[in-house]
Amino acid sequence: MLVARIRIMLGALVLAGLMCLAAPAGAQQPTSVNPTASSVNEQQLLRQLNQIDGRITIPDEKAGVLIQPEGRDWRRFHNVTLRWIGAIAILGMLVALVAFYLWRGMVRIEGGRSGRTIVRFNAFERFLHWMTATCFIILALSGLNITFGRSLLLPLIGPEAFTGWSQWAKYAHNYLSFPFTIGVIAICLMWIAGNIPNRVDVEWIKRGGGIVGNDHPPAYRFNAGQKVIYWIVVLGGTAVAISGYILMFPFYGTTIAGMQLAQAVHGIIALLFVAAMLAHIYIGTIGMEGAFEAMGTGDVDLNWAKEHHRLWLEQEQARTGPNESQRQPAVQPAE
Ligand code: HEM
Repeated sequence: MLVARIRIMLGALVLAGLMCLAAPAGAQQPTSVNPTASSVNEQQLLRQLNQIDGRITIPDEKAGVLIQPEGRDWRRFHNVTLRWIGAIAILGMLVALVAFYLWRGMVRIEGGRSGRTIVRFNAFERFLHWMTATCFIILALSGLNITFGRSLLLPLIGPEAFTGWSQWAKYAHNYLSFPFTIGVIAICLMWIAGNIPNRVDVEWIKRGGGIVGNDHPPAYRFNAGQKVIYWIVVLGGTAVAISGYILMFPFYGTTIAGMQLAQAVHGIIALLFVAAMLAHIYIGTIGMEGAFEAMGTGDVDLNWAKEHHRLWLEQEQARTGPNESQRQPAVQPAE
């Protein structure tokens, strides 16, 4: 009996030992997946290898990458992060501008209109400004369609209309990029002399540009606020152009990661660019009396120039003499 009991206990001990050895071996099983096995669990493989790629017989090696986790990160960036950045920047700017307008109203010409004008921008400058601005607006709308169209516009106009519009928007985005690039380069060269920061800008910034209250800090042809807009256009325009052409001509010297980076840079800068231009459009229209004329007819009222660009006006008058650089408006206001 005793021998039989000892045998049973020994048997139980051996069995328990075998089970302990077998458990870690079982736990290791999923990590020892054979990727070339005929039936492999895709999720398991992805967890183990971090991406799924294979051998292909065509020269385009990147086509061999079937799944890579960065692709999901990129999709999340495009569908979630970029939309948040755009919504906060653009809606935030709109809300800020409306609030500012309700608080401050239009900045009036304090001395009233003098009825005499001075040339501020010639026809060539205005042509370049409007060409670039028109391209920008169409690029912005067609680009915003890529970011937000599917969730905002598609439910409103339906798939057929959305497809047609998106196709034309894409053509417009591609082709108008060329005149836009030319415009940015021309603007950069044409106005750079007046946009180098100087000491007058420090004073202008300290006095808040005179936008609060009725202060009129002196400025040459471009004040510090306009210089900021100039550099946003030049640097932002260069960045969207370079990243945009990388997207337009994919994989010329770029990898998948390079394309994803170009898209992120393009999307973020473009959306911030749109927000900045809203502020520019505001101050050039309802924000300041007499400002639109500078880019409309090209002439501004003498009192407007005195209040907002006194040093420039003095330079112009010293250069051409007060009577030559000023002219009567084409149409006198009715009494
Ligand atoms: C030289 C100038 C530009 C070029 C070459 C360019 C090119 C491109 C290309 C190729 C795409 C990808 C389109 C697609 O996925 O099918 C794109 C997207 C986009 N572009 Fe531009 N673009 C330029 C300027 C601009 C400007 C000025 C803006 C706005 C102010 C803008 C806003 C956008 C936006 C918002 C997207 C969508 C980003 C996204 O959601 O992924 N682009 N652009």
